[in-house]
Amino acid sequence: MSVMSASSEDVFVPRPARIIEATAFTGRERFYRLALDRPLGHRPGQFVMLSVLGIGEAPISISCGPREDNILEMVIREIGSLTQVVAKRVVGDVLGIRGPFGSGFDLNDFRGRDVLFVCGGLGLAPLRSLIQPVLAEREQYGKITIISGCRTPDAELYRDDLRAWSEIEGVEVIRLVDSTAHQPWDGRVGLVTAPIADLDIDPERLTAALCGPPVMYKFVVMALAARGVPADQIFVDLERRMRCGLGKCGHCQINDAYCCVEGPVFRLSDLERLPEAL
Ligand SMILES: Cc1cc2nc3c(=O)[nH]c(=O)nc-3n(C[C@H](O)[C@H](O)[C@H](O)COP(=O)(O)OP(=O)(O)OC[C@H]3O[C@@H](n4cnc5c(N)ncnc54)[C@H](O)[C@@H]3O)c2cc1C
Ligand code: FES
Repeated sequence: MSVMSASSEDVFVPRPARIIEATAFTGRERFYRLALDRPLGHRPGQFVMLSVLGIGEAPISISCGPREDNILEMVIREIGSLTQVVAKRVVGDVLGIRGPFGSGFDLNDFRGRDVLFVCGGLGLAPLRSLIQPVLAEREQYGKITIISGCRTPDAELYRDDLRAWSEIEGVEVIRLVDSTAHQPWDGRVGLVTAPIADLDIDPERLTAALCGPPVMYKFVVMALAARGVPADQIFVDLERRMRCGLGKCGHCQINDAYCCVEGPVFRLSDLERLPEAL
């Protein structure tokens, strides 16, 4: 695989990305729609390096499926020096974007299969970049199940999308919270692992994609293994600290692999050689 996934002439130079929508999803996560100078040309599951001049850069997942226009969607959690500055930016302001970077998902791994998405918290943001193109060619897939969990009802991302997806024939959406925290809630209560034991799964036909907090993977993988889903039909989207996004700085190293280049999407069976991954 090439060390640089964007064209080599511009990989170090941020491109201007104008904010055309900034909507609060929760108290600390905002949905952004950015207009680029040209189409991004990304695959599902890839990420960009988002920057503010004079502040720094951070890897942020692309949250929309591949598209021909110049629009990029993302969800940004306000957590530290860069994301706090970005949270103060408004429609019309310009941010910097490098990328797209990383391996991403290959739709051919999912076509013709039943597909299970397991999304924990912010993990729904990158998986939406795969869910959108899968649902856009719905007839190419078998049964589709989307499990999406978050801590409390007010932490749920993409609620309108989740509801709209549940209306599509052959698509089951299971929304969960760890706790209702006494807020109104029309989904289930429990962890994202809970529904897996009762899902109508044919392990011979199923391919799964997972993204969520680090603690989630081990338990979801165990629940899927208990249902007979083989490791080569499970894809995980991992996060590591990143700086260059290009396989140069070593910040994202997992054993002998650079997560920014070989990942962030890995086939679970390929992680046997990377014991530090999960
Ligand atoms: C491939 C990839 C995709 C990502 N996608 C998204 C996304 O879609 N939306 C989003 O909001 N965030 C995403 N992140 C996380 C995001 O990059 C970090 O939250 C961001 O770097 C924080 O930048 P900051 O300057 O605001 O925080 P900083 O001031 O750098 O850090 C704030 C705190 O967060 C910790 N931290 C920073 N980066 C990470 C990390 N990668 N893992 C664990 N702890 C970290 C720091 O140690 C510190 O405690 C992604 C990360 C990766 C690697
Ligand atoms: S972020 Fe620099 S090598 Fe991966």
